[in-house]
Amino acid sequence: MKIKAAVVFEKGQPFQIKELELDSPKHNEVLVKVKACGVCHTDEVARQQIIPVPLPAVFGHEGCGVIEELGPGVTTFKKGDRVAFSYGYCGSCEACRSGQTYGCKENRRLNFSGTQFDGTKRLHDGEREVSSFFGQGAFATHAVVHVNNLIPVPDGVDLALAAPLGCGIQTGAGAVLNYIKPGPASSIVITGCGPVGLSAVMAAKIAGCTTIIACDIIDSRLEMAVALGATHTINSKKVISVPEEVKRLTGIGANYAIDCTGIGACVRQSLNCTRSLGTCVVLGATQELTIHVENELMGPGKTLVGIVEGCSVPQIFIPRLLEYYQKGMFPFDKLITFYEFKDISKAFEDTHNGKVIKAVLTM
Ligand SMILES: NC(=O)c1ccc[n+]([C@@H]2O[C@H](COP(=O)([O-])OP(=O)(O)OC[C@H]3O[C@@H](n4cnc5c(N)ncnc54)[C@H](O)[C@@H]3O)[C@@H](O)[C@H]2O)c1
Ligand SMILES: [Zn+2]
Ligand SMILES: [Zn+2]
Repeated sequence: MKIKAAVVFEKGQPFQIKELELDSPKHNEVLVKVKACGVCHTDEVARQQIIPVPLPAVFGHEGCGVIEELGPGVTTFKKGDRVAFSYGYCGSCEACRSGQTYGCKENRRLNFSGTQFDGTKRLHDGEREVSSFFGQGAFATHAVVHVNNLIPVPDGVDLALAAPLGCGIQTGAGAVLNYIKPGPASSIVITGCGPVGLSAVMAAKIAGCTTIIACDIIDSRLEMAVALGATHTINSKKVISVPEEVKRLTGIGANYAIDCTGIGACVRQSLNCTRSLGTCVVLGATQELTIHVENELMGPGKTLVGIVEGCSVPQIFIPRLLEYYQKGMFPFDKLITFYEFKDISKAFEDTHNGKVIKAVLTM
């Protein structure tokens, strides 16, 4: 069928909305009429080819929509079902079978190779094959998606709102609720208050952290952090040392720190905000980092760990986040600004400039 999609033809080039051919769903896939798709920093990272997804490609990996057609073998969904999309996993490797789909051995291939589950592509521009991102390619009016990427969205939740849960929001919230699981009355420092960091702030409040310190360089983001549950804020441009400031607020440093900036120096700073035996979780896509291992890590017995997608099994965790949302405990809608699909370049520009926190495109 003919669809409209935002295509990136060359490294760093703008999105071009154009007509492409989309094949019918194959084994265990469905055709979805896309309703909305969140804009994630990782789309930009791939557009710049820091993650080398073969081009041309249709990015967009926080999609949602309504199922229009079932491919062979699909038994757990039906036409008309409302679904959100998340990352792909194989379902049969050791990690998947032990309930840790975020550690799937096929993670790279299923999410970043540009192909679908079976290794082939569904999108074509004339004779040329076009990649899809995370097995979705949801910056488009329609997408063919494998059932492992799908999460049913309950009635009573605005479908478009569910889009960004599939990556950035579950990453921040899951780091706290699935990985750290904070002990009673604990302290946490969250650096980088974009959608990922602010989701971690909301989750820290749910988890009962009594000291939630948000750190950023943009005051409006720190104000949003307070509105969502932060007890203290630090504008790192306005203090001499963030770790010293955290020590002043907590006595001996925080139990936990999460870095959501993707900047090596900030990761090191986050590690140094923790007390002995503390844990520092890296969520930002960080390239390189130098630390003095004995003084900063081994000696004080700290844990420095990187995790993806907040250790979330999306089919379990996203319905739980929606439950928190419906109870008023996880107001992630406050982060969202909607844009029409045709304004995709503006949505990326406004996100890049820090003008909006989470842009969501509506198709
Ligand atoms: N691990 C995963 O599975 C996963 C999933 C989604 C996103 N990510 C990554 O998480 C990171 C955050 O994503 P996002 O969408 O929230 O990004 P974002 O760009 O919206 O947020 C980053 C925030 O960091 C702040 N910042 C920049 N420099 C700073 C400094 N020196 N001190 C303090 N704050 C500073 C920015 O002002 C911004 O608010 C990105 O690197 C993204 O690629 C990882
Ligand atoms: Zn697997
Ligand atoms: Zn993402």
